[in-house]
Amino acid sequence: MSPIAGALREHYSASQFRRETWNHLEALTDTLRRADERGDAERVQALRGEVERELQLLRRIEHYWAFPGVRLCGDLERLLAKQEYRALERHAEYIARLLGSEAYRQRDVTLLFDDEDSEARTAADEAQDGASEEERPYFEVLLVAEIEEREGAELRRHMLEMRSEDDEFIYDVVIVPSFEDAVVAVLFNHNIQSCVLRYRFPVESRWMIPELSHYVQMVDPQLVQRAERDPSDALAEAITQLRPELDLFKVSDETMGSVSATRTRSFRRVFYRQEDYLELHLSILKGIYERYDTPFFQALKDYSQRPTGVFHALPISRGKSITNSHWIGDMRRFYGRNIFLAETSSTTGGLDSLLQPTGPLKRVQEQVARAFGSRHSFLVTNGTSTANKIVTQALLRPGDIVLLSHDCHKSHLYALTLIGAQPLYMEAYPLDEFAFFGGVPLREMKRHLLALERAGKLERARMVLLTSSTFDGIVYDPERVMLELLAIKPDLVFVWDEAWFAFARATPTYRRRTGMEAARRLRAEFADEGYRARYAVWRAEFERLDPADDATWLDRELLPDPDRARVRVYVTQSTHKTLTSLRQGSMIHVFDQDFEHLAREAFHEAYMTHTSTSPNYQILASLDVGRRQLELEGYELVRNCVGLAMMIRRQVSDNPLLRRYFRLLRATDMIPPEYRPSGRERFYEPGQGFTGMEEHWLEDEFALDPTRITLNIGATGMDGNTFRRLLIDRYDIQINKTSRNTVLFMVNIGSTRGSATYLLDVLLRVAEELDERGREQSELDRSITAARVRVLSEQFPPLPTFSRFHPAFVDDPRGNTPEGDMRAAFFEAYDEQSCEHLRLDGPIEYAMTAGRTLVSAAFVTPYPPGFPVLVPGQVVTADILNYLKAVDVKEIHGYEPEHGLRVFKDEVLVERLAKREQTRAAALEGSLR
Ligand SMILES: Cc1ncc(COP(=O)(O)O)c(C=O)c1O
Repeated sequence: MSPIAGALREHYSASQFRRETWNHLEALTDTLRRADERGDAERVQALRGEVERELQLLRRIEHYWAFPGVRLCGDLERLLAKQEYRALERHAEYIARLLGSEAYRQRDVTLLFDDEDSEARTAADEAQDGASEEERPYFEVLLVAEIEEREGAELRRHMLEMRSEDDEFIYDVVIVPSFEDAVVAVLFNHNIQSCVLRYRFPVESRWMIPELSHYVQMVDPQLVQRAERDPSDALAEAITQLRPELDLFKVSDETMGSVSATRTRSFRRVFYRQEDYLELHLSILKGIYERYDTPFFQALKDYSQRPTGVFHALPISRGKSITNSHWIGDMRRFYGRNIFLAETSSTTGGLDSLLQPTGPLKRVQEQVARAFGSRHSFLVTNGTSTANKIVTQALLRPGDIVLLSHDCHKSHLYALTLIGAQPLYMEAYPLDEFAFFGGVPLREMKRHLLALERAGKLERARMVLLTSSTFDGIVYDPERVMLELLAIKPDLVFVWDEAWFAFARATPTYRRRTGMEAARRLRAEFADEGYRARYAVWRAEFERLDPADDATWLDRELLPDPDRARVRVYVTQSTHKTLTSLRQGSMIHVFDQDFEHLAREAFHEAYMTHTSTSPNYQILASLDVGRRQLELEGYELVRNCVGLAMMIRRQVSDNPLLRRYFRLLRATDMIPPEYRPSGRERFYEPGQGFTGMEEHWLEDEFALDPTRITLNIGATGMDGNTFRRLLIDRYDIQINKTSRNTVLFMVNIGSTRGSATYLLDVLLRVAEELDERGREQSELDRSITAARVRVLSEQFPPLPTFSRFHPAFVDDPRGNTPEGDMRAAFFEAYDEQSCEHLRLDGPIEYAMTAGRTLVSAAFVTPYPPGFPVLVPGQVVTADILNYLKAVDVKEIHGYEPEHGLRVFKDEVLVERLAKREQTRAAALEGSLR
């Protein structure tokens, strides 16, 4: 491996490597200047060589950036050649500072340096320090054109001349000459927001360093092939797949007539050679503005500036009830003025109604749909708990069967209870060793659907509902899941609970595993002739097999009939969990081919059922702004966030002291090998750096999100809860999930290098303290600690799987599929006479030993992890009791230790069974008559 390759891999993020290389250059030029001033000729000579090499490296990296870009690398090279070491140092230092502080992104960098005159640069430097210029967001325009350097400089100059003081944004231009370079540029350079593809250009790069070639490997190979014939359209498609938020323009040298025949779908606009630069400039700015525009936030700001007399509800509006108060003035002082000026219940005056949006909120919904790749999107102000209820109610009817993971969020279960749809719990693979679940294997899903088919109930199976990513970062492959299940039931509706996955839209690796992207790909596939041909071959082969044999369905990949399969996909996301939004800000995204005629009205009713008539405007405005951020800097933020997570992962696995007490859980720990055909062991290997995330995410049935960092803390002798308390009480570090022997750290787009360093520092301090305590412990204490560690690291109480619904709460007790009538059990429990409480310290064991079948009358949910281990109608088993006794959490919703578990009385069960028999007999008689 070359030194650069090694360095890039070690850094994971090429951007970080770039910044550090500039810092290194700055340090070198400083040493060089000092050596020169000392007259140390030998040292100067050696340092000159080093600076030269560093500049060569930077030049190869800077090809893809406008600032500092190769242009300024050239300036530095000239200063080095002229032996102007002081100026060289000043400029290197200045560039490194601008890059490090990112100050260059708020101003016109082209004014900071002058190509010819180094003195002018110094003057600009001073002006810069005074920060005289008004701040405007900066971005870069990628121009793809195979032209000589001089022509490129000319072109850039023409484009920059079009800019004006009045523009809201400022940009510079970076020019690359080939398809491959363009791909590297859009993936490497997060500043690029617009791409202009000009004339024809070659596919291969002349200058790309092999170390950046992994970016090119992210492009669909078919597109690379197509690029030979049709470079600009193939590149446009590649960029759309990699960074769909970017604006694409084409400058064509063809005549109008021939151009109209080419595919121009991906381009915002096609320009012809003779058109002027001004049009291009205005189109570029317009494209940015469309993403920058936040209609509801703007309307709220405008509204808050209007003098308004409020004769309506909401005394807090405009802060009135606070300003007049003698007792609650501190609230205003804490929050400031604007939040109250923006508190209003108005739906007019430029604002809008969430329940029937026609103005700015409607526009926000359209923008959100564009940003997340949905056909329709809706805003929700009461979290994904509510989003889930809306979606479920919109799509299900009483009696429908829903296949879902047993450890799903409780909001789904409450929704099913209200609707009367029947859950069929599928088992996620357990990770007993760490006390949480993984995901539901596809084979398990197919097995259940097949069983429903064989029991004659497939018609009732309407929905599959899965959580991806899980709390712990296990991510499904939604495209594959939907593809195979649609082969068994072509009209299934899929709901992907992406409460933890809203950020995934931002980068290509994550995006491929989102529900919306999978829906888009499936829809395209079913319309594609290539798929039809593949399906015909598959079908012919499949028809030769025995359909009564389970293996026919379970042991091979299934393909749905493209003429029958419908793409009906719904996604719910807690925007507030992983993107910028105030708490409770959530979204629903819909990609449903049948939405108009099968779901629109029911969706509307469901939305009305669960949406407050007083939605919080601050939450809505924050969702609006969160969308802007996703479209303009989501790619950069998420990539940085992954880089930071990788850095933490690396430190924890490399540091011998940390390794003694904390074990980082890797994909190998959290995903069994049968679901990981890529064979990728981990993201980071000491000595090899970061390898393999892309392959793992592309190929495996389940992927692990590296931003979810789970540490096994068993070796500390502390359980998860104790460790969490230690972190918050002593170090002000907040985490929100623990298990018996693990803690979960989530790195998000708000995490900084500082907070990551602090976390590592705290872990080191804890490890040092444990070491110290170990040394000072008495023999007895040491053996107690060792025993505790053994319990946490070697003894694993099995996780409670879903037992079964009691026959009294099953439609057809003789059927062999496991769905149940949870709603009947839930409402049966409203009658106090139906239930009794049995304590866990004796009475319940006694009842079970005496042969009673105990049936839960309530949802019992230990928090964390937050999924019910018992639901109404479910049979209580010894395993579940053992788990409840072993979980060391304070909160167990639905269970009070002094009262015990709430279960149904035997006579209630007997009576229900008898009634069912009667009904069935009557129905049978009726059908015979
Ligand atoms: C998988 C899952 N879905 C839904 C929710 C509910 O989301 P919210 O807190 O936005 O209501 C959660 C909350 O933790 C969750 O983990």
